[in-house]
Amino acid sequence: TYVVTENCIACKFTDCVEVCPVDCFYEGETMLVIHPDHCIDCGVCEPECPAGAIQPDTEPDSQKWVDLNRGFANQWPVITARKDPLPHAQVMDGLPGKLAHLQA
Ligand code: SF4
Ligand code: F3S
Repeated sequence: TYVVTENCIACKFTDCVEVCPVDCFYEGETMLVIHPDHCIDCGVCEPECPAGAIQPDTEPDSQKWVDLNRGFANQWPVITARKDPLPHAQVMDGLPGKLAHLQA
């Protein structure tokens, strides 16, 4: 599976949702997640994210993100259409400590 990671938080560019062939992105207030059990591992979303926030679960630190993505995907609504990024997306892109901005 692929997962959405920390740098999506407070940016939410949403380019990713338009390319997913199985519509497995889910939307929270400050972040999107992928449903790890529905993702078919096609990889097309990864290069679409301007924030570089999407990664395959073969990356070393992925297990916590798989768990986080699955947990929220089961609670949040699906998102299939692109929308405007969050207002401070450009300045928040790449800042450390963004987990503090995650609103569940
Ligand atoms: Fe969707 Fe493919 Fe990205 Fe998985 S890897 S979330 S199936 S676009
Ligand atoms: Fe987030 Fe990147 Fe998608 S910032 S909303 S994972 S395009």
